[in-house]
Amino acid sequence: MSEAELPSILQLTPLNPDYQADPHKLLDPLRAQCPVRKDPVSGSVVLSRYNDVRAIVSDRSLWRDPINAEEGAMLQRGTANLQTDQPRAETISILHLDDPDHARIRQPLSQALYARVAKFRGEVERIVDEALDRIPEGEPFDLMSLFCVPIPIDVIASILGVDHDRLVEFRAWSEGSILGLNPFRTEEQTAQMEWASAQLSAYFLKTIAERRVAPGDDLISDMVKLQGEGAPLSDEELRINLGALLVGGNLTTTDLIGNGVYLLLKNPGELAKLKADPGLINATVEEILRVEGPVDITGRIASSPLEIGGCPVAPKQSITTFLRAANHDPEVFEDPHSFNISRKHKPHVAFGGGAHICIGAPLARLEAQVALPRLFARFPNLRLAEPDAQMEWRKLPFFRGLETLMLVA
Ligand code: HEM
Repeated sequence: MSEAELPSILQLTPLNPDYQADPHKLLDPLRAQCPVRKDPVSGSVVLSRYNDVRAIVSDRSLWRDPINAEEGAMLQRGTANLQTDQPRAETISILHLDDPDHARIRQPLSQALYARVAKFRGEVERIVDEALDRIPEGEPFDLMSLFCVPIPIDVIASILGVDHDRLVEFRAWSEGSILGLNPFRTEEQTAQMEWASAQLSAYFLKTIAERRVAPGDDLISDMVKLQGEGAPLSDEELRINLGALLVGGNLTTTDLIGNGVYLLLKNPGELAKLKADPGLINATVEEILRVEGPVDITGRIASSPLEIGGCPVAPKQSITTFLRAANHDPEVFEDPHSFNISRKHKPHVAFGGGAHICIGAPLARLEAQVALPRLFARFPNLRLAEPDAQMEWRKLPFFRGLETLMLVA
């Protein structure tokens, strides 16, 4: 492929049928021929080598807030609020904030979230078993809608202490707010997202006030308690970041579980290894994250002149780190496209890195580590309903998950 023929970032999305069918047919030549590439369409510098991606996501001196990027930084600016009439921390979540606000808000949130996750295995098991009870035996069913979609939403609802009678509404708001992840969403989708986000905001602000008066055993009460003990965090900042847990966590974990089941069914030898040695489950989840991670990219913005792989990068330049390409770099992972759960561990970058590394990683891992073994134990003969059918991947740019996964139990 000549340089001009290499794919632009807009072709590296599931809207392109070739990318949807096999992302690596496009990513491999990009990494081999032009691993540090100024994208001709978006203007972003796209990194596809593992070592470059890892170095950039780990570099805490870089910026994240798209407002600091050059005007044309379409990928970064498309997903974040650029309003400047309010403090940034009351406009955007930690996903896009820079220090000192980022550290100020992330610290208490991660402290409370990690403590909750550490004691949540039993509750995740209960939620997974409830989802398993809905699966019919002997007839084709869609694992995504019956299992992979509801589990993360119900888990986060339980962590946040959402009342049981609000769960149906909460699920609808969570699904609507996810539309914010799509930089190319339609006007109709934008309206749906705004409606869902407004409902969630009102719900969170009301619940924060209620928990301040009557604390419960949930993350919102934990956060209100930390505020009371001096954590410098306003209710508005808390509300925005509770929303970020839903937007960042639901679809991604849905896809981790869905992609995992699909990979295991397509690789029966690996599934047999896991069944024979259940202790391999953590390694299995890491290999799923590497081979078929739910998130394609993350971004940073140069805060000073940089050199990446010998190429100069100017301040304010937006940088796109292609996590999926990095996780299949043959320089780092032998036979990179094969799914091998006993692969010698090398850390993948599916959760990004550095200051912004996914705050929900321990929760996502826990959900997959519980959901996968329980599914295969309950339904030992689980199989693809149509083993040779072409899979349909969701057409959401920069995310990879199945539209449906038809199975027979
Ligand atoms: C398999 C599931 C998941 C994947 C693959 C994933 C992936 C990512 C990635 C790539 C980032 C950006 C990291 C960076 O720029 O270095 C991120 C950030 C984030 N994720 Fe996740 N995520 C997952 C699950 C979750 C869950 C369960 C939650 C919430 C409970 C969550 C909440 C967030 C938040 C709030 C951020 C922003 C963190 C920050 O910028 O400080 N994610 N995630």
